[in-house]
Amino acid sequence: MAALLKNVALIGASGSVGKVLVDAFLNDKRFNVTVLRRGSSSATYPSAFKVVDVDYDSLDSLTAALAGQDAVVSAINPITPVDTQKKFIDAAIAAGVKRFVPSEFGCDLNNELARALPVFAPKIAIQKYLKEKAESSPLTYTFAYSGPFLDWGLEHQFLLKTVDSKPKLFDGGNTVFSTTKLDTVAAAVLAILSKPEETKNREVRFQSAAISQNGLFALAKEVAPQRNWEPEVVKIDDIVRVADDRLAKGLLGPETFIPYLVRAINDPRYGPKFETLDNELLGLKQVTEAEIKDILRQYLKE
Ligand SMILES: NC(=O)c1ccc[n+]([C@@H]2O[C@H](COP(=O)([O-])OP(=O)(O)OC[C@H]3O[C@@H](n4cnc5c(N)ncnc54)[C@H](OP(=O)(O)O)[C@@H]3O)[C@@H](O)[C@H]2O)c1
Repeated sequence: MAALLKNVALIGASGSVGKVLVDAFLNDKRFNVTVLRRGSSSATYPSAFKVVDVDYDSLDSLTAALAGQDAVVSAINPITPVDTQKKFIDAAIAAGVKRFVPSEFGCDLNNELARALPVFAPKIAIQKYLKEKAESSPLTYTFAYSGPFLDWGLEHQFLLKTVDSKPKLFDGGNTVFSTTKLDTVAAAVLAILSKPEETKNREVRFQSAAISQNGLFALAKEVAPQRNWEPEVVKIDDIVRVADDRLAKGLLGPETFIPYLVRAINDPRYGPKFETLDNELLGLKQVTEAEIKDILRQYLKE
């Protein structure tokens, strides 16, 4: 395999992860990037990128778009139907693509408990499909595990609810988890494409920091000591029970799925703190507490 997977097709390029990938590729002239844009998307992209409008339901359309590509990076919305995502893989094989990086960018799904969480079922289905195809075709894969996004997770009140100064501390908030800044997730993807042999048919784990909710909360209090902080302890079992009931009734959506993500991140049995890291292989730095405080400061303005 070549030293660098130079021709890269990007799917889901207008999303939270897609946007940072676009920025990272723009700043790294080693790659030729083609964005696959679905018919209903109105997103626009820098002129340095080739944009191909594709029909996600058509294997021929996808295969034609992937001709000449060395790698496909998918940053597609996780609710995209599994069959559509499988079609990306079939098209990649038909076009002779060498590497497929599926839309992972989250929890370590090698953990047996995490694998079984309903929220990850589509990702597990895609992993299984890619593993099968890697046995029967030249296509290879890499699964990128970043843990929850640090900056995005604080902005979206997902890692620590600071907006009303009433953080919910899951099971007390002491579980340490790996977490990664979005720009570092993008840097990891570029590093995977730069080191195809070392990252072939395996998962890579990386982090900007390992910290608990209480660790984040302590930094938030340093950044905003004037606030009247009122933390609330929430039992993960309680919110997961409600999610299980909703799921049993066929109710889907964030209200059903977020408690499972909370479980994956804040329950130590689910492997939220990576035991091994590929930061060195991928050339990724971690952040200091001062840098985490800088991120928090953006969301704790008063
Ligand atoms: N670790 C974390 O904290 C964290 C947080 C967020 C996401 N993630 C993961 O990162 C990956 C990307 O998520 P994201 O939040 O960046 O996704 P997103 O912003 O919700 O969506 C990404 C792109 O997917 C396309 N898309 C949206 N709905 C679609 C549909 N129904 N069918 C086909 N395409 C659709 C859109 O692109 P076009 O309109 O251009 O086609 C969209 O911009 C996922 O695997 C997700 O689980 C992880």
